[in-house]
Amino acid sequence: MITNGHLKQVSIVGTGSYLPERVLTNADLAEMVDTSDEWIQTRTGIRERHIAADDEAASDLGAKAAAVAIEDAGITASNLDVIIVATVTPDMPFPSTACFVQEKLGAKNAFCFDIEAACSGFVYALDVGYRFLASGGGKRALVIGTEKLSGVTDWNDRTTCVLFGDGAGAVVLQAETNGRGIMGTVAGSDGSLAGLLSIPGGGSRNPINSENFSNGMNYLKMAGNEVFKHAVRCMCDASTKVLDQCQVSIEDVDWIVPHQANLRIIQAIAQRLGTNMEKVILNLEEVGNLSGASVPVALDEAARSGRLGNGDTILFIAFGGGFTWGATLMEWNDGK
Ligand code: ACO
Repeated sequence: MITNGHLKQVSIVGTGSYLPERVLTNADLAEMVDTSDEWIQTRTGIRERHIAADDEAASDLGAKAAAVAIEDAGITASNLDVIIVATVTPDMPFPSTACFVQEKLGAKNAFCFDIEAACSGFVYALDVGYRFLASGGGKRALVIGTEKLSGVTDWNDRTTCVLFGDGAGAVVLQAETNGRGIMGTVAGSDGSLAGLLSIPGGGSRNPINSENFSNGMNYLKMAGNEVFKHAVRCMCDASTKVLDQCQVSIEDVDWIVPHQANLRIIQAIAQRLGTNMEKVILNLEEVGNLSGASVPVALDEAARSGRLGNGDTILFIAFGGGFTWGATLMEWNDGK
């Protein structure tokens, strides 16, 4: 468990997101595998998703989202002290995707690295960025979630190919603003369940050779209904713990921005936490599961729609491969 204690205050002062132009609908998928719009919508809540172009990598998506967040924050890229990218679909094993983003933005004063915590990646990265600034390590951090999941999707596997999409979201974190900013994060992991959700190939365990490639090891594998149960339990647990830790009741939470994997998971969490769906920011219908990009894309859309007011209490919740999970509580205060 991670606890924030009483450190310097840090706020999100800018948000941005980017979704690739191409849209793949459920009807399109029904022409590719044995599925239907009705099955996908009923089981997941997803209607369509965006798919990156062949020449677009995670850093391209991430840099586009970041440029919007930087403009929104009213700063320049050279003002950034650190860039942290959460992704399971990096441009390449190394250098980090964050270094490629740095180059695209011209953020020459930042040090840069990636975090890999699957769909919880953004919440983990936010906590690391928060701690860096809260402990006086710098003034501004750029935290990005970016994914090109279409590149690790087996387009012949109907149990996974209907779920995922491509996109990126970013936030600028700044130390020393008004209000409470980030109040706390509770995160956890359980490596004993790693086999339920993974991309088994492409690393040092199962390198991409012709045998592993022909066995489809380069594709994402998921035991969907097992993951479902753990996702609900872990996200509820983390939410309850962070609320307790910050001494905030669920009634005082204005908005919940959950990882957008499945509408039924989100409904089950809202029910267990004792809150209503009107407080939940949803965009999975149009974007699908964006893994590490899920929370920041939903957050940016909510911010741009004018729904988030200064002083609002927001709860981010995420769950993903590892297993990993986390919940962050914050007071919205973008200074606008
Ligand atoms: N179209 C039609 N039928 C399908 C499809 C499809 N696309 N996919 C599966 N089915 C069939 C199955 O074969 C099965 O048929 P059977 O009963 O004849 O065997 C039936 O539908 C039911 O399958 P389930 O897997 O039990 O369906 P379920 O209701 O669990 O929904 C889903 C599957 C959507 C994957 C759900 O389990 C889920 O959302 N799981 C959690 C996903 C998640 O949270 N992931 C975490 C983050 S992802 C990350 O970290 C990268």
